[in-house]
Amino acid sequence: MQQINIGDIQLAVEMQGEEGHPLLLAHGFPLDHTIWQPQIDFLADHCRVIAPDLRGFGTSGVTPGTVTMERMADDLAALLDALRVTDKVIFCGLSMGGYIGWQFWRKYRSRVLAMIMCDTRAIPDTPEAADGRRKLAATTLKDGPSAAAKIMLPKMFAASTWDEKPELVERVRAMMEGNSAAGIAAALEGMAIRPDARELLPGIDVPALVIVGEEDSISTVDEMREIADAIPDAGWVAVPKAGHLAVVENPAVVNEAIAEFITL
Ligand code: MLT
Repeated sequence: MQQINIGDIQLAVEMQGEEGHPLLLAHGFPLDHTIWQPQIDFLADHCRVIAPDLRGFGTSGVTPGTVTMERMADDLAALLDALRVTDKVIFCGLSMGGYIGWQFWRKYRSRVLAMIMCDTRAIPDTPEAADGRRKLAATTLKDGPSAAAKIMLPKMFAASTWDEKPELVERVRAMMEGNSAAGIAAALEGMAIRPDARELLPGIDVPALVIVGEEDSISTVDEMREIADAIPDAGWVAVPKAGHLAVVENPAVVNEAIAEFITL
């Protein structure tokens, strides 16, 4: 794990693998880069994996207030600059990481070789959803990160994961509770004002792969199918025995799909 100065803060980043395309992994909310551990371990033989903790999460720097998806995309571009990564990257985003991915595409498309979107959404929050996020931000600042974990954890997994993988559930709970209240609240405020990304989808003129857990209740199969249909060259993988965190619930299927895709 390295700490990289990107200007106003330091980002923690894990890098594995020597050969192949750079694969930039943007984690979801309220997680950290270790949600990608199965992908980091498996894909390091196929590409150069770059897995940062996003601003406000893990062991990266925290800025209170509002951290927009655009700002996190700017952070990732600055991180690539600091790491002297000049090759185009395969951007792989999970949920909030996907929201950041749309903004990365909008601002830095010349740096993108391909996009992998896992369990994410292109539509913005409804006013009610945005309001709920702001309330959760306030509660988290008052009561600590476990307040956010209490709301988010129940939405993360397929039924079989709850039954068969209690240790995974506990690992994700600990990951959520290990983040700072200020970082969680700032990302909630940022997600609440994220723009509609649907207009970007027809213009994505690089290969894309859309991955969704068959039991995802946040970014549903139907909603992700619409994303895949709107992107001109998008592959599609529906992952069985997986909910919103397909990347850890059924990593074998996800890893094989990504490994095949990144041979492009
Ligand atoms: C995530 O996994 O990043 C979150 O579920 C995103 C969200 O709350 O919209």
